Amino acid sequence: ASNRTFTMIKPDAFEAGNSGAILKMIEEAGFKIVAMKATQLTPELAGKFYEVHAERPFYADLCTYMSSGPIIAAILEKDNAVEDFRTLIGATNPANAAEGTIRKAFATSIQANAVHGSDSDENAAIEGSFYFSQFERVG
Ligand code: CMP
Repeated sequence: ASNRTFTMIKPDAFEAGNSGAILKMIEEAGFKIVAMKATQLTPELAGKFYEVHAERPFYADLCTYMSSGPIIAAILEKDNAVEDFRTLIGATNPANAAEGTIRKAFATSIQANAVHGSDSDENAAIEGSFYFSQFERVG
């Protein structure tokens, strides 16, 4: 398994001022931040990022929501990064997220669920490259 994953702090969490608390949970769980930026997606870029969900009923709403305000994008490093990060963030639907997870603490709905985490090593590489050139990340 690769030792990197990719995350976004989504518009709901950014707007609520929870970015610092979320980054603290990420570092305390043993992840190193090896690339990071604040930015805002256009609906078109959000659509490209979430292209795998293009056929889903929530796709249009998701693209509108993800471009509705600033986000923080980051690449994270840790052994077993993808799987361990998905454990740290908790279930997509915060109603099902375990105690102690980022989504349990900060997500407000299945869509406004505070953070994104890559679901595979392959997608982690693709998603990291979507935001960061080789000069914008460590290593
Ligand atoms: P994320 O892990 O970033 O991957 C896809 C996103 O789509 C997900 O988090 C949610 O923000 C959103 N999403 C997933 N399932 C649903 C759903 N059933 N209804 C609305 N939004 C969803």
